Amino acid sequence: MTINIKKCTLQDLHTLQEISYETFNETFKDQNSPENMTAYLERAFNLEQLAKELANSSSEFFFVYYNHEVAGYLKVNTNEAQSEEMGDESLEIERIYIKNQFQKHGLGKFLFNKVMEMALELNKKKIWLGVWEKNENAIAFYKRMGFVQTGAHSFYMGDEEQVDFIMAKKLI
Ligand SMILES: CC(C)(COP(=O)(O)OP(=O)(O)OC[C@H]1O[C@@H](n2cnc3c(N)ncnc32)[C@H](O)[C@@H]1OP(=O)(O)O)[C@@H](O)C(=O)NCCC(=O)NCCS
Repeated sequence: MTINIKKCTLQDLHTLQEISYETFNETFKDQNSPENMTAYLERAFNLEQLAKELANSSSEFFFVYYNHEVAGYLKVNTNEAQSEEMGDESLEIERIYIKNQFQKHGLGKFLFNKVMEMALELNKKKIWLGVWEKNENAIAFYKRMGFVQTGAHSFYMGDEEQVDFIMAKKLI
């Protein structure tokens, strides 16, 4: 069993769109209306939007491979790319998504360790993220990685207002 990681470039745009659609659908389609899912997918993962995010020097995407097959991806943000104004000393995990079939094989933890490495190298003091209040699996995973809830904010999934818990892990 081998696990590898690769930083994404613009050349990975189409693979990134595919895995974004697939993992988002798998994770949220049972708890959201098809209309709201479609609205979100089209807004968040259209090629123009993803290309813009890939070109942003304050965001980084990584693919994780399990036995050389793309199994998931990670997106981290620093500075002004963060979804909330958390300041220069924070790093945001915007997305950790592992395909269903590859979950519980240590890949989420592998990506989290990559985030820790990056945050320490950049002398960040905090790692934070927003996670849907109903995403119990992800909340349990982040707690296991040492995050605690520090707040909440709302966001729109299509026309539905939903609540994200803000979770953070201090590094000092
Ligand atoms: C949440 C997610 C990233 C976890 O990744 P994963 O590869 O399945 O998790 P890992 O196998 O690396 O598990 C790491 C640790 O977390 C624990 N863990 C993972 N999922 C858990 C759960 N649902 N409940 C309790 N513990 C959990 C594991 O037991 C493991 O513990 P250990 O360190 O003692 O061995 C993955 O399930 C996923 O991508 N889910 C769908 C997308 C999603 O919701 N992403 C987050 C959006 S904010």
